[in-house]
Order: sequence, then structure tokens, then C-alpha cells
Amino acid sequence: MTSKDPKWIERDFAHVWHPYTRFSTLDEHRLPVIVRGEGTRLITDDGRSYLDAISSWWCAALGHGHPRIVEAIRKQAGELQHSILGNLTHPRAIEVAEQLAAMMPSSDRHVLFASDGASAVEQAVKIAVQYRHATGQPERCRFACFEDAYHGDTLGAMSLGYLEAFHRPFADMVFPALRLPFPHCLRQRNPAPCEGACFAAAERILSHHAGELTALVLEPLVQGAAGMRMYGHCFLEEAATWCRKHDVLLVVDEIATGFGRTGSWFAFEQAGVDPDIVCVGKALTGGALPASATICRDAIYRRFSDLDEDCTLQHGHTFCGNPLAMAAASAALEVYRELDAPALARKKGAWIREKLAPLADRDDVHDVRCLGMIGVVELGPSDMPAAAARAHRVRLNLMDRGILLRPLGNVIYVMPPLIIEEAELAVLLDHVTEAIATTA
Ligand SMILES: Cc1ncc(COP(=O)(O)O)c(C=O)c1O
Repeated sequence: MTSKDPKWIERDFAHVWHPYTRFSTLDEHRLPVIVRGEGTRLITDDGRSYLDAISSWWCAALGHGHPRIVEAIRKQAGELQHSILGNLTHPRAIEVAEQLAAMMPSSDRHVLFASDGASAVEQAVKIAVQYRHATGQPERCRFACFEDAYHGDTLGAMSLGYLEAFHRPFADMVFPALRLPFPHCLRQRNPAPCEGACFAAAERILSHHAGELTALVLEPLVQGAAGMRMYGHCFLEEAATWCRKHDVLLVVDEIATGFGRTGSWFAFEQAGVDPDIVCVGKALTGGALPASATICRDAIYRRFSDLDEDCTLQHGHTFCGNPLAMAAASAALEVYRELDAPALARKKGAWIREKLAPLADRDDVHDVRCLGMIGVVELGPSDMPAAAARAHRVRLNLMDRGILLRPLGNVIYVMPPLIIEEAELAVLLDHVTEAIATTA
């Protein structure tokens, strides 16, 4: 029991359904009751402080309770809490749309807001399909994506990001997307020289189906939920060139990677590509409130015109562009700019890389990899239940050390708030190293 008042846990067990949480884990009765967030820390009702080493599912990039975000929400709450974007508008949504457009390689973009990452991806799916109808190509409505991609848990997002372990019961309900093999070109222990070859297998499949495809949807440079798998920018470059040549839309899902995390504002920038649609979420509001966005090129947006015939996109969510969430986003974007979030992630990412590198020499470590402020230790042997069980023990060991992590199977990773100080980051990485050694 990890609460001052055991009743919280009893009441929780009685009525709260926890996402991604196994019953057997609940039985361990190790549910901290979080009552406060301060910077990099989450505080429990009995006063314990945990370092949030995964930025609360990768969204609290500025830590918890950032004063600028709190103040922006407070101010907005006094003026306007909610107003819809259907046939109305409001200043905060306009500001955020402008800022997001300005962050793209060119600002000729329109932004459709939503609430969660999955709903931003659903919007991208529907836009890419209706776009083909609007351009007289209704036969081109298929999607291509990576094997083991993850784009969220709603049906359309699952169709693109089917993960066997997550989505098996829904296999017959999702639409059949074309699955491309993942380019395993960045593994330290088994480095395969690439020189563009990483795209060859995908290209063979894509080229066979080019005439059916509306869009290629990718998590750029790192597949998050699949186990923080990383791939080279060369694949993305080749994919973008292929998409242009074959008039296939390139959709990048920056929900996990956006706003500096990988060392650039968006991961796609590292490949020098200019996607047609970019999905963002999570860190958009600094993790303070739910908001996401589907950022589209104007050339796509204009196809939805109702001037000749009605091509209106009949899609929206009640809380899309919610003024409180937009106020939080506007403040977060401003702070990211002031901090130069990409430079920060590059600097602190170098510390993560340096500190984790020695773990690669261990026989029980399959791979160590880093990108910006994402540091990954994959326990070996690869994908074996024993390695996943070990990762679970590492998680429990770290909880005892006041650190919150959530391994993905056999993959232990850190993705701390960008604002974490060097000293605290060093302590985190020392603890991770020790926990891996202790649980061997
Ligand atoms: C790349 C990616 N896309 C989409 C999602 C779904 O976002 P949400 O959980 O906000 O629906 C996630 C969540 O982890 C993600 O990592």
C-alpha cells in the first residue's frame, strides 16, 4: 500500500479502470496516489517525491506546474473557458494555429485541432481519404505505415499502428494498411551500413501499390510504443522523395517527438523533408491540458472548398481548440522558444548518451540508443519474456529509489522533462545503471 490513507487505494480498486495496467500489477498494491506536481517531480499524498523520468507519457516536457503555463490557464479561465470552433473562433486558437504554421518548413498551413494524439491521427486519416474523393481519385484510399507502428488507440489510429500485444482482439475491425518493414539500421550492436539501402524493401512494397495509396504515415526517426526503436533520417528522406514522385501524401506523427524532444523542433527536420500533414499532441500544452493538432498544407486544405461542390470536412470534436488548452499551448510554445528546446535536448541528450553508453558492454543488455532526450536501454536477450520480467523488476527497483519509469516490454527508457537539471539527470542515470546491475 503506498498511500497515507489506504481508503484511496480501496476506492480506486472499486471504481477506477487504469489504462495499460495489468490486474496482476494492481495486485502488487503499489499505486502511488499523486496529489501534486512540481517541476520534474510528482508528489504522493504521503509526501514521497518521484522523479517523473518519462514526463508523464512524454507530455510534461516543461515539467509539472510550469508557472507560465499555470498563469496562462488561470488568466484564460477568467475570460473564456470554452467556445466551439464551428462557425466561431477565438484568439487563443488563432494564435496557436499561427505559431504551429510558423514552425513548419513553410507557413502555408491550416490547423485542425483535436484533443488527444489518436484523434489528431484520425483526422489525418479522414483528411487523406476525403482529399482523394475531392480530387477525383476515390480508388486511392489506402494507407502505408510501418510494421509495429503506434499512432493511438482509436480504430483508425490502430489500423495504422497495429501492435499485436495491444490490439489483437481488434484485428478484424481495423482497416488493412500496407505494412512496411522497419529499417533496423541504427542498432549499436549490429550496425548495418545503410547508404539508402534501408528504404529498398519498403520501396518494393510501396511501388507495387502506389496507385492505391493516399498516404504514407510514419513516426519520424523513433517508433515510440514499439520499444523506442530508432531509424536513420535516410529512410525518411527516401520515403519523402518517393511520396512526391508518386503523389502520395507524407503524414508524420510528431505526437511523441515534437517540440524539441529529439534535438530539432520536429524529428522530420533532421531528414530535411517537408511533410504534407503533421500530427502533434502531448507536449503541445507542456502536458498541462489535452490538446492535439493536425497541421495540413494549404494545397490540401483548399481541396475541401465548398465553392463548386460541397467538400466540407464533416469532422470535429467538441473540445477541439478549447481556449484553456490553447492558452496553455500558446504559453508552452513561447517557453520552448525562449529555452531553445531543441538545443537543450541536444545538450542534455549528449549527457544521457554518455552516461548510458557503458551499459552497452553488459552481456544482458541488447542495445543502448539515444536520440535527443530519449535514452534507451534494451535488455537482452531481445524480446524474451525473461527480459521483460527483468525490466519490470528494474521499474520496481527504481520506484524504491524515487524514480518513475514505465518500460516497454524489455525496453527501459528515460524521457525526462527538458528542464531537468544536469545534477538530477546524472542521479537519474546513475540509478538506472545501478538498478539494471542490481536486478541482474
Ligand atoms: C507516436 C504516437 N502517436 C499517437 C499517440 C496517441 O496519443 P494519445 O495517447 O494522446 O491518444 C501516441 C501515444 O503515445 C504516440 O506515441
